[in-house]
Amino acid sequence: MASCRSIENSQFFAISLDQFVMPNLDSDKNQRLSRNLYEEIRTWIADGTYGVGAALPSTRALAAERSLSRGTVSLVYEQLAADGFIETRPGSASRVSSGIGAPCVDTQVHREKANHEAHGMPSCRLSAIGRRIAAMDTQEPDATLSGEIDFVYGPLSGNDFPTLLWQKALRAVECQRIPRLEYEDPRGNLELRLALQAHLSQTRGMRCTAEQIMIVNGSQQALDLCARLLVNPGESVVVENPGYRMAHNAFEAYGAKLLCVDVDSHGLCTDQLDQLGPARMAYVTPTHQFPLGAFLPIARRHALLAWAAARQVWVVEDDYDSEYRYSVRPEATLQSLDTSGCVIHVGTFSKTLSPQLRLGYMVLPPTLVEVFTAAKRVTDRHAATGVQRALARLLGDGSYDRHVRRMRRFQHARQRTLVDALVSSFGPRVKIEGYSSGLHLVAWFSEISAQDESALLRTAREFGVRVYSVRPLYYPKANLKLCSQSLGLVMGYGLLGCDAIESGVRRLASAIDQIRGRIF
Ligand SMILES: Cc1ncc(COP(=O)(O)O)c(C=O)c1O
Repeated sequence: MASCRSIENSQFFAISLDQFVMPNLDSDKNQRLSRNLYEEIRTWIADGTYGVGAALPSTRALAAERSLSRGTVSLVYEQLAADGFIETRPGSASRVSSGIGAPCVDTQVHREKANHEAHGMPSCRLSAIGRRIAAMDTQEPDATLSGEIDFVYGPLSGNDFPTLLWQKALRAVECQRIPRLEYEDPRGNLELRLALQAHLSQTRGMRCTAEQIMIVNGSQQALDLCARLLVNPGESVVVENPGYRMAHNAFEAYGAKLLCVDVDSHGLCTDQLDQLGPARMAYVTPTHQFPLGAFLPIARRHALLAWAAARQVWVVEDDYDSEYRYSVRPEATLQSLDTSGCVIHVGTFSKTLSPQLRLGYMVLPPTLVEVFTAAKRVTDRHAATGVQRALARLLGDGSYDRHVRRMRRFQHARQRTLVDALVSSFGPRVKIEGYSSGLHLVAWFSEISAQDESALLRTAREFGVRVYSVRPLYYPKANLKLCSQSLGLVMGYGLLGCDAIESGVRRLASAIDQIRGRIF
């Protein structure tokens, strides 16, 4: 209690974000990032992640982790010291001040209060979920400049969308007269669910009924429903680290605690599961670990399922890009291997058609069908019917499968071009991971340390190429303690033609040469 009071009585929450202005910052973005860092460290001190006397990472390591300049991090530390949270001494690590206490129940609420009030929103007008979401960093990368070659992961090229097929399917659907315009089954259009049932059986060997399938507005809605229906605030969800931050955000929004499990070259380290505390749910990407790209071997799949069955943990299997397998054999999904009814399989059309359609699906264990159906009805009744019926036609007449086969050829050509270009520009100086499937790979550059990350990303932009570090995909609290030696880039190729990929890698090589020239 005394320690709670010490936090309350300190200036901890007295400073509004508007008052916190970092001098000498060269851009608004930098200023926002340093404010976020200041806030984040304050929270970690308050919630006990860094207890009294704990050493913070060096400014150099943290600057590298955060893509900030070392000077900016030093200014954040100076501000924290001036506000009494940490003690800095030349030549030794900065440590949490002895006057600052351990966890206080209202810490988060106070932090968010300061945050919202600084933006003119009294925090009392938001729910706890609203406050958590408002405190998250959910921003997408800012717009690409013209002429820039962008290795962003996520978007697809508009040229790859099957416009004519889609228009034809939509027109055919619109021409059908529907006598009663009524709400549909919350699980979605039955025609589509039947077509999907056949498709999943044929392409993934999955056995399920159309009753178990629910059409959702993208995988994100599936994750949101799982978080709301299966996990209470304060309970834990096991996640891969690094992992899909949009999933982490969905779980944390509802007050879940994340239990991070490491990922190695075979995916989730299932040998760490037994050491974890109790969990309600696990979220995994076993077919193509996001972002590192491993395929989870069958023995680990069985280990995960046995652990989940023994502890009554739900397992969410995110099968987001399994259509793009280039050099690996088809594998059994967790849903197919599950004998205890704990797996919720989630898929999406964001990678084969367009993320703008917002079409995804869940294959639910029979015991969850009723509650998820009711929740979907309460949330948004059901996904829009027209696009579902158009998609059902494409699945039913085989044109979706033909489109996917064509896309797989295109994406494979892009993947080979990128791998070849990286190998020819960097040779043994690059290690490429996770390229046997999907729409991105991870390239590790041994001669560039993670500490030079921000300089490299900036220099690459000066050379007209946009690249993204793998670092933000590590869970931040774990990340701060992580001191990876070489720089890793997540390189998406779904948006780029082969010429652009080659030219982008040449530009990246020039940027890396320039950085090396500065280092050596
Ligand atoms: C791991 C992962 N899951 C799912 C998705 C797709 O999400 P949605 O279906 O909501 O578009 C993505 C998109 O990038 C992803 O990276």
